[in-house]
Amino acid sequence: MSYFDSVSLAPADPILSLTEAFKADANPDKINLSVGVFVDDNGVTPVLDTVKEAETRLLTNSKTKSYLPITGSPEYARLTQNLCFGSELAKQLRDQTVSLQTPGGTGALRVAADFIAKNLDTKTVWLSNPTWANHGGIFGSAGLQTESYTYFDNASLSLDYAAFIDAISKIPAGDVVVLHGCCHNPTGADLEPEQWEEVAKIAASKGWIPLVDFAYQGFGIDIDTDAAAARIIAKSGLPVFVCQSFSKNLGLYQDRVGALHVVTGDSAATEKVASQLKVSVRTNYSNPPAHGGGIVTTILSDETLTAKWHQEVAAMRGRIAGVRQQFVDALKAAGVSRDFSFLIKQKGMFSFTGLTKEQAMELREKHAIYIVNSGRINVAGITSANLERLVASLKSIIG
Ligand code: LMR
Repeated sequence: MSYFDSVSLAPADPILSLTEAFKADANPDKINLSVGVFVDDNGVTPVLDTVKEAETRLLTNSKTKSYLPITGSPEYARLTQNLCFGSELAKQLRDQTVSLQTPGGTGALRVAADFIAKNLDTKTVWLSNPTWANHGGIFGSAGLQTESYTYFDNASLSLDYAAFIDAISKIPAGDVVVLHGCCHNPTGADLEPEQWEEVAKIAASKGWIPLVDFAYQGFGIDIDTDAAAARIIAKSGLPVFVCQSFSKNLGLYQDRVGALHVVTGDSAATEKVASQLKVSVRTNYSNPPAHGGGIVTTILSDETLTAKWHQEVAAMRGRIAGVRQQFVDALKAAGVSRDFSFLIKQKGMFSFTGLTKEQAMELREKHAIYIVNSGRINVAGITSANLERLVASLKSIIG
């Protein structure tokens, strides 16, 4: 008898367990296209030059390791609001926005989920079908129910806009709807700015609350265009939660740095909302880690470093777009029977390939190529060194 007899084995994480399996795989030619991590053409996830410069400055100038406030650094809050909403709109919204420095985008989502569960009337959060594999777990762990709205057409492997609009028009007032700000994870199928305008109108007329998961700013079109969802919704006067991450666009994966911005749309409610968000943080992790936020603050408060960072983001985005084209060309040249040209239109790191779970497992077991069972691939993991073998393996499976 053990004190832990009551504990059952949890299912492995559908994304991160694949990296564990990849690491344990002895095949020297193994390829990891599972987790959303950018690599350069040498297969390396680089530390950005601007991050190195910011860390050097932090090391020289830091004077204390004392706690940050529960909500994090006020300067970080202001700078990340500006990045998210654009400085003009951020300024207009300042007295109705509560911003928290959080441990990554996941930390932001979890604090938002706790806040919603404890303080709003609704207990239901709507997720896109499909969505990031961790969304259901995060909202479920906070005690919320999740439902899904139609988003993607599996036959054409593209956004089903009409069905999406129809689905979100039927969501009850007061419920929370999770929208992917840009670079939809897992499909790479995004909305145009005019379409976001329509979504904002529907949210206003139906009375549901948007929550924008914003983890890939700059990986789609550019830093400002990618912010269309957050900006259009916030500008329309609606309340909105925005969960921002710096894992990808600053390569700060292991530093766990993100932000939660809650625009209340109502200055009178802001103080109460802030007080409850603080309770959620205090009872989860007390106050945020400082280092990653320090890097973000150093870069965003310095015009030269910010401009250099924009170039670094553009270079990462350019590599991903280039790889999409090379991949599609190589599949075509190899005579793969299916047309994969849809991959070129998709945005960000991910693509939904249409491969089945069985095909994903065959890729893993026979070819040591790791993709998520849903058929999602991280395009940013394709390099000059692995492209040929990847295409040959896909050809052997698809024909
Ligand atoms: C992904 O979807 O692969 C990334 O967001 C990383 C993660 O934590 O799952």
